Amino acid sequence: MNSVNRKQGDALLEVSDLRVAYDKAEVVHGVDLKVHEGEFVVLLGRNGAGKSSMLHAISGLIPKKTGRVRFAGVDITGADTRTTARAGLVNVLEGHRVFTGLSVEDNLLLGTYAKNPHGDKSKLADIYELFPEIGERRHQLASRLSGGQQQILAVAQGIVGEPRLLILDEPSGGLAPLVVHRILTVAKELTSKGVAILLVEQLVKEALKFADYCYLVEAGTLGGEGTAEEVKQGELIRRIYLGGAQAAAA
Ligand SMILES: Nc1ncnc2c1ncn2[C@@H]1O[C@H](COP(=O)(O)OP(=O)(O)O)[C@@H](O)[C@H]1O
Ligand SMILES: [Mg+2]
Repeated sequence: MNSVNRKQGDALLEVSDLRVAYDKAEVVHGVDLKVHEGEFVVLLGRNGAGKSSMLHAISGLIPKKTGRVRFAGVDITGADTRTTARAGLVNVLEGHRVFTGLSVEDNLLLGTYAKNPHGDKSKLADIYELFPEIGERRHQLASRLSGGQQQILAVAQGIVGEPRLLILDEPSGGLAPLVVHRILTVAKELTSKGVAILLVEQLVKEALKFADYCYLVEAGTLGGEGTAEEVKQGELIRRIYLGGAQAAAA
């Protein structure tokens, strides 16, 4: 199903026939998806469905078995992560991956390198205002942060790079509900400036509060799609919950 209620026009990200395999085991079986400028898109689906593999392949972290990826009108199918980041496609990986041997500030500066090879300190004040808990610890090693604070730092590192598309892969991992809400609110605010968000989230209800459009990933294929409203009111929501999503926690 392709929703007629979706934002129209050229997509910022357009993925077609994406297949991903680890050795011979194919885990993503020919996926087509789009994200428009300023659109907040969520990928829902059970653990192991292939969401992270899709995102890793899109951002150039792992190879694609087949498929094409266009971003901002340019074919980036064969591009590595450095190139995709420079083009404005930033993937904040699952599991708060930050450089624990570097300070909070140096982690954030790394996030600015895609745009400026010398780093850009002027971008950091805004981030410290958005996330005071890391601002207070800017000179500490990232290893001293709690898991939740490291997760915020990972998201913040993505935001300071001023992406055109920010991919957030399960940012809620290890975070209190209020902090999750704050991160998704910050992401939603970015969309008003034209930034696109592609979110993977297990907290379905929370994600659908923010999303414009939703894809359901089932065993490496897309099991359905629709606007957040269509999903909430339709039969898809039942399948999402049957897939093991965390209704109660949302
Ligand atoms: N590096 C890897 N090597 C081999 N298999 C992997 C690797 N990463 C993920 N997989 C497998 O690919 C499938 C999809 O995983 P993943 O993309 O992480 O799903 P999701 O993000 O939806 O939880 C799973 O069966 C997982 O075990
Ligand atoms: Mg994953």
